[in-house]
Amino acid sequence: MGERVGRRALVTGGAGLIGSHIVDRLLQDGWRVRVLDRLEPQTHRHGRPAWVPDAAEFVEGDIRDRALVLAALRDIDVVFHQAAYGGFMPEIAKYADVNVVGTALLLELIRDERLPVRKVIVASSQVVYAEGAVACPVHGTVYPPVRPVAQLRAGDFTVHCPRCRGRTVSVPTGEDAPLCGATPYAISKVAQERLVLSWAEQTGIPAVALRYSCTYGPRQSLFNPYTGVIAIFCTRLLNGRPAVIYEDGAQTRDFCFVEDIAEANLLAATTSAWDGVPVNVGSGTATAIHDLYEALAGALGRRIPPVLRGEFRPGEIRHLTADISRARAAGFTPRTGLPAGLERYLAWVRRQADVRDYFAAAEAILGAKGIVHRVAGAGPGRADPVSTGDA
Ligand SMILES: NC(=O)c1ccc[n+]([C@@H]2O[C@H](COP(=O)([O-])OP(=O)(O)OC[C@H]3O[C@@H](n4cnc5c(N)ncnc54)[C@H](O)[C@@H]3O)[C@@H](O)[C@H]2O)c1
Ligand SMILES: [Zn+2]
Repeated sequence: MGERVGRRALVTGGAGLIGSHIVDRLLQDGWRVRVLDRLEPQTHRHGRPAWVPDAAEFVEGDIRDRALVLAALRDIDVVFHQAAYGGFMPEIAKYADVNVVGTALLLELIRDERLPVRKVIVASSQVVYAEGAVACPVHGTVYPPVRPVAQLRAGDFTVHCPRCRGRTVSVPTGEDAPLCGATPYAISKVAQERLVLSWAEQTGIPAVALRYSCTYGPRQSLFNPYTGVIAIFCTRLLNGRPAVIYEDGAQTRDFCFVEDIAEANLLAATTSAWDGVPVNVGSGTATAIHDLYEALAGALGRRIPPVLRGEFRPGEIRHLTADISRARAAGFTPRTGLPAGLERYLAWVRRQADVRDYFAAAEAILGAKGIVHRVAGAGPGRADPVSTGDA
C-alpha cells in the first residue's frame, strides 16, 4: 500500500446518480466532502436534489469554469471526477466540451497551480470498448470492430468474427481489450481516460480510471430520456406505455448497482493497486434487454408488450460483460445482484412524485438527428404506441 491518502474529497457531478452515492460513502467514512455540480437541467428538472447532504459543501457550477474549478480544488486530497455529459444525446460538441475540455482543465489546474492533490479517480465506462471480447469456435477470443451500419440496416445484429465472419459468442471483456469509441460520448470517455492516465504518468500524481458497467439504482434521473435503460423502461411502464426496445432485445448488458460502484471508488482512493491503470467495475454477469424488460414489467404489474420495430443505434455495443478479475484482486465484490437492486430501485421510484414519460418527446429528435436508425424495409411504426394491456 502506498502513502496514506488524505481525507478531503472533491466529487464533481456529486448531485448525480453515482456521485451522490460516493458522497454518502465518503461522509460515512469521515471524509470532508465538497461537491461541484452544475445541476444539468435535463437530469435535475427541479433543481438541487434533496439527497445532496448538508454535511457536504455544495458548489453549484460548471466543470468548464476555470476560476470556479480552481476554487473547488483548494485543499483537496482526492478528486472523484464524475461530472459528464452522458448517453445518446444529439449534441456532438457538448460531449467533447464537457467531458474532454472539462477534464483537461481540471488536470491543467492541478499541475500548473501545484495543488496538493494526491489522487484523481475518473469515471470511465465500458463504452470505451468496441464490441468487447467474443469467442469464435475457430479463432478463439477475438475483438471485432463495431458492427457496420450497413450490416445493421440489413437486419443482421450478430457480432461476426473479424477473421472468418462466423458467428461468435460474447465472453467477459478484460481491460486489455482494444479501445475504440464509436459514438461522441464513447469517444469522449476514451479521451477523458487517456488524458487522466497519461497525465498521471507524466506528473507522478496517482490516478485511476474506473470503467463502469451500466449503473442503476435510487436517484437515477427519471427525467432524462436519453440515458439509463432501466429508468426509461420504468417511466414508460408506469405511464401505461410500452418501452421501445432497440435491435431484437437479445443484446446483453452488465448491470451494476450504484452502491457497488461507489464502493469501488472508495477502494480506488485507498489502494495503490490500481494506480495508473483502467479497472473494470461491474457485476460480471450478462442480462438480456428483453429479460430486463420482462422483469420490470412483472415487478410493476404492467404486463405491456414492448415495441420492437427494427430500430437500432449505430455504435451501440451488442454484448458487454465486464471481466472484473482486476477489481476483485484488490478486494472489490459486487454485493447487490439485479433482483435485489431492482427491488431497491423500484421502491425509490414509487416514492417519486414526478414519473412522467419524457421518452415520447425525445423519440422524434433521436430519429431526426440520425441517432436511431431503422432496418431497411421495417414498417414506419407509430411514434408513440398506445398501451395494449395496462394491468
Ligand atoms: N450511469 C452509468 O451507467 C454510467 C456508466 C459508465 C460511466 N458512467 C459515468 O459515470 C459518471 C457519473 O454518471 P451518472 O450516471 O452518475 O450520471 P448523472 O447524470 O446522474 O450525474 C452526472 C452529474 O454531473 C453533473 N454535470 C454534468 N455536466 C456538468 C458540468 N459541465 N459541470 C458540472 N457538473 C456537471 C450533472 O448535473 C449530474 O449531477 C459520468 O462520468 C458517466 O459518464 C456512468
Ligand atoms: Zn473466426
